Amino acid sequence: MGVVALVPAAGRGERLGYGVPKALVPVDGVPLLVRAVRGLFEAGCVRHVVVAAPPSDVDTVRTVTAPLAHAGGAVHVLAGGAERSDSVRLALEHALREFPDTDVVLVHDAARAFTPPHVVKAVVDAVRAGHPAVIPVLPVTDTVKQVDADGVVVATPDRSALRVVQTPQGFDARTLLRAHEAGLHATDDAGLVERLGVPVTTVPGHPDAMKITTPFDLAVAEALLVGGQA
Ligand code: C5P
Repeated sequence: MGVVALVPAAGRGERLGYGVPKALVPVDGVPLLVRAVRGLFEAGCVRHVVVAAPPSDVDTVRTVTAPLAHAGGAVHVLAGGAERSDSVRLALEHALREFPDTDVVLVHDAARAFTPPHVVKAVVDAVRAGHPAVIPVLPVTDTVKQVDADGVVVATPDRSALRVVQTPQGFDARTLLRAHEAGLHATDDAGLVERLGVPVTTVPGHPDAMKITTPFDLAVAEALLVGGQA
């Protein structure tokens, strides 16, 4: 029985404009991926981590993540696939082959490098409590509009019933495998599981688990570190 975290980090992340894959972009000298993997281990309940790296950067990613392995906990790095979902599926298959006693799988974006360890633990605890799929969420603070192809508003969904979704998303290992084998499409792993008809449960996320996508996000992360808040 064990928890394995999959980290799809094979995207180029060009919106950051750094010239290296986003996972390797440093914040205060430490790559996002290293911060993300550290946070997973700091939760105290993740045994192994499997990283899907850009195919051209597997060796570099292995070098930067190797020091994070600890007694009983490995970091495996493999080449990711063409799409995010391919990277997750490759990492999942690797995890179930290499660590066959895995019963809980997390999927965590390297770009959410400052996710507090207590959020990771809350997700794992909820899966262990019997929920097959668990996602950390935050309330929506902006009003959201649905628009048509011309940009004309067609609806204003009730904001109180909406949530923004973060990672890590946690799953019973067999449920996630079934979702990936079903050939479905969704923008996140919980979306795949949802399409199987499996209930997806939420736990509170945290503002620090923001996805670092733009140079502005990176500047916010640097500022949080300087301010000692992350
Ligand atoms: O591009 P986007 O921000 O949606 O990517 C989300 C995550 O999926 C990123 O961490 C990225 O590295 C990862 N990804 C991947 N394999 C791909 C494309 C994206 O692991 N082929």
